[in-house]
Amino acid sequence: MYQRLMEHLTTAVLLLDGELRLRWMNPAAEALLAISLSRLKGLPLSSLVDGGEEIGELLAKARDEFHPFTQREARLTLVTGEVLTVDYTVSPLSADELLLEVEPRDRLLRISREEALQTRQETIKVLARGLAHEVKNPLGGIRGAAQLLERDLDDPGLKEFTRIIIEEVDRLRDLVDSMLGPNRMIRHEPLNIHKVLERVRSLLIVEQPGVWIERDYDPSLPDLSGDESQLIQAVLNVARNAMEAMTEAGVASPRLTLRTRARRQFTLGAERHRLVCEVAIIDNGPGIPESLRETLFYPMVSGRAEGSGLGLSIAQSILHQHQGLIECDSEPGHTQFRLLIPLEKHHD
Ligand SMILES: Nc1ncnc2c1ncn2[C@@H]1O[C@H](COP(=O)(O)OP(=O)(O)O)[C@@H](O)[C@H]1O
Ligand SMILES: [Mg+2]
Repeated sequence: MYQRLMEHLTTAVLLLDGELRLRWMNPAAEALLAISLSRLKGLPLSSLVDGGEEIGELLAKARDEFHPFTQREARLTLVTGEVLTVDYTVSPLSADELLLEVEPRDRLLRISREEALQTRQETIKVLARGLAHEVKNPLGGIRGAAQLLERDLDDPGLKEFTRIIIEEVDRLRDLVDSMLGPNRMIRHEPLNIHKVLERVRSLLIVEQPGVWIERDYDPSLPDLSGDESQLIQAVLNVARNAMEAMTEAGVASPRLTLRTRARRQFTLGAERHRLVCEVAIIDNGPGIPESLRETLFYPMVSGRAEGSGLGLSIAQSILHQHQGLIECDSEPGHTQFRLLIPLEKHHD
């Protein structure tokens, strides 16, 4: 019963012996430290992470003084090279048993920031939708009136004006429709994410033949449940931006990477999932302009003169409808968008 409890805790828990070697850790610890129990069992903690010596000292102190200690904001370098900032607590259970609890700081900070950002985005979207509806309502009337007028006109020079009215109304309607986002319910059908990516890839090759597109797929990823054409749209919106950014900046050897990975025990928004599909779209373009970073996913935010600023906002709506989200890291020469879609829900 206790073991089961420990296995389901979201807190990373490790058990060490008197020699400070690992005896056991729960899945949350495996996920956090990106290493499996079977690889680490019986090894000293310092072999698991850089910065382990410091933990080792505190562990020894806790053991020798038989007193619990907490260390805040310690930095650990994982075997993957990733650097984590963590809080950890060491509690001696007996002379040869120590309990170590590790809590990540970065990810917690990031999640709460994401939530704040998401709330703000939702507000903006509600506003944009309201405005879009108001603009759309009179369009039908304007178009109908222009058509009636056109019928009574003989002068082709005047007909040219009604034609302009009708065309511009249609353009406005299309713009407003895309602002309102997909208006049908999304489908939930089993689909293979690699089929989605292959489709996007073949479209991009036709659009921009000069760009090298690399595939780095995890073939073990299971099918996910979702809407294929919507996901194609989402990936395409993100990938097109990357292509446009690289082409516009005149990057010498433009390169786009489509990468898939499975992420275990991953928190999206407020929910933790056992398995999440990660699609990364990486380019070596100029990076996202600093001025756009905070508002990147808002509708009508664009860094390009002819841009609508709707691409990322739509992509994000689609991901939300799949209970997922989009993250972005960018610096000059390396921009990465990650689309995260839950594969399996896990209610704690
Ligand atoms: N991979 C990228 N590299 C550089 N800038 C990007 C990238 N992706 C998006 N951007 C910036 O974000 C802006 C918003 O993108 P988007 O919402 O698709 O609107 P649009 O493409 O119509 O401008 C783009 O105009 C561009 O400035
Ligand atoms: Mg775009």
